[in-house]
Amino acid sequence: MIHFVVVGILTLLSTYGLYMFVLTNEILLPIQASEQAIAIDNLFDLHWLLISFFFSLIMVFLVYSIVVFRRRKGDEGAGEHFEGNTTLEIIWTIVPLIIVLFIAFRGSEALADVERRDPNAYEVTVIASQWNWQFEYPDGETSSDLVLPKDTQILLRMYSQDVIHSFWVPEFRVKQDILPGGEEYIRELRITPNELGDFKIRCAELCGQLHYSMLADVSVVTESKFEVWLSEQSDICELDDITCGNKWVEKNGCVACHSLTGEVIVGPSWLGLYGSEVPLDDGTTVTANEEYIRNSILQPASQVHEGFNGNLMPPSFGDTLSAEQIDQIIAFIQSIK
Ligand code: CUA
Repeated sequence: MIHFVVVGILTLLSTYGLYMFVLTNEILLPIQASEQAIAIDNLFDLHWLLISFFFSLIMVFLVYSIVVFRRRKGDEGAGEHFEGNTTLEIIWTIVPLIIVLFIAFRGSEALADVERRDPNAYEVTVIASQWNWQFEYPDGETSSDLVLPKDTQILLRMYSQDVIHSFWVPEFRVKQDILPGGEEYIRELRITPNELGDFKIRCAELCGQLHYSMLADVSVVTESKFEVWLSEQSDICELDDITCGNKWVEKNGCVACHSLTGEVIVGPSWLGLYGSEVPLDDGTTVTANEEYIRNSILQPASQVHEGFNGNLMPPSFGDTLSAEQIDQIIAFIQSIK
């Protein structure tokens, strides 16, 4: 009996140590930045407690038995013979069953919390493509960064232009696959950001060669800053062509692949590109004039710069950019000397 008391005390001490100082949300999870994260983190917390207890129970029994019941010098006898124990069998069937049912109950409560709908949720459309994120706001504003107001439920309506992608911001905890196939296959995700800050969206579905770099910035800002930002994103630009071109380049995330400094990221740099002789992968050369650049935006795989992969550039800019915007982007590229 004394053995059980000792093992019981050691198990409790070990559980306490693990749960308080090793298996904690603070150490193991990124910061909690959405309302939805609260229910999920509470589930994690429950699991850390159970894991700490069962790990301790098994390890303490094991180590205690190895140390205390080891074979002593001169003990050559056979071990005691056991024939099974029905009481033990019943206990270790019923107890885990109760725990699993309890977790299922807590899980369904958490799911209901995470999916709670606010009828006034603010809608943002998310368009995923290889390997790019695009966000559309209710009045037609578009951006390649996701900016959200704090303490407002956001309804993300998401679709893909090519393969399956997945929207994931670890600080918000929730994650959702994004499917191709148009209107019918739009997936929804609700997030209520409750922490100001800058985070990263990561694509969480293997989606091709540049899956690892399919990232976008998320900023959670105050309501007033959000209004200001939103007004800057409109598709109206009444400044000169180069300034407007710069705006479209920023908004569409072009500079994630095309540097303005001569550095090669994924695509050719735009420094000194305009007017230069570009070697193509079929061995010919072409002058980088308006016509060539427009064609490279609309049909990126048709005249490919030697040493680059034309399939890495999204072929969809012809659908999302107007002819005027493309002209302004060309004017901007022309200005990068
Ligand atoms: Cu998109 Cu991985």
